Amino acid sequence: MRIDVITLFPGMFDVLRENGITRIALERESAGLSCYNPRDFTGDRHRTVDDRPYGGGPGMVMMPEPLDRCIDAVRQANSGPLIYLSPQGETLDQRLVEELAGLPSLVFLCGRYEGVDERILVSRVDREVSIGDYVLAGGELAAMVLIECMLRLLPGVLGSAESATQDSFSAGLLDHPHYTRPEDYRGMRVPGVLLGGNHAEIGRWRLNRSLERTRTRRPDLLERRMLSEVEQQLLTALDTEQNDE
Ligand code: ADE
Repeated sequence: MRIDVITLFPGMFDVLRENGITRIALERESAGLSCYNPRDFTGDRHRTVDDRPYGGGPGMVMMPEPLDRCIDAVRQANSGPLIYLSPQGETLDQRLVEELAGLPSLVFLCGRYEGVDERILVSRVDREVSIGDYVLAGGELAAMVLIECMLRLLPGVLGSAESATQDSFSAGLLDHPHYTRPEDYRGMRVPGVLLGGNHAEIGRWRLNRSLERTRTRRPDLLERRMLSEVEQQLLTALDTEQNDE
């Protein structure tokens, strides 16, 4: 997967290149990340990329010309969808991550200041994505969140092929609890079922804990999701248990 990012702060993306799962993914030939700085596409001595908003008000707006030229340069090598990160976009979830991770190439546009001149959004941007209902100082961290979410899904990037399909949200449920050694930590014991080696029983226990957590913490996820017959039965059994208490 090829990712090109348009940003005034290309150095921020070194964090992805230098650390953890994203470093592993980007060291492979199958994934590449390049940054383009709109400042390199300005025409004046001060390399100006922003100006005051028409109509007045606080802050500055990113000017269209440097962005247009910068996008033209990116387009020489990348014809993938251009995504603008902004709080006005569709909210990122695991379904959208999986959809985007399946594409061969993507371009991200990161705004700073009050944002980008609307004419760039209208004429060049394919899609607008938000990472949640809060306001960052720019799109860079949002793009980094999305890039990390996508790169970890690429084949062979996670240690176990199963880890990505088994974690929170990929099945539309929250994750079950995890334990490692020691068996007894400060008097808190690992649940006995996990020590027995009965994989059918372990699977049932994990699904139960996932359903239970999802129901208490994020009931909205259960409302949106089709439940399998087994899941429905487990939830009914959990309800009965709770009513008996
Ligand atoms: N830029 C500023 N805030 C943002 C958000 N919540 N999501 C995506 N991009 C942003």
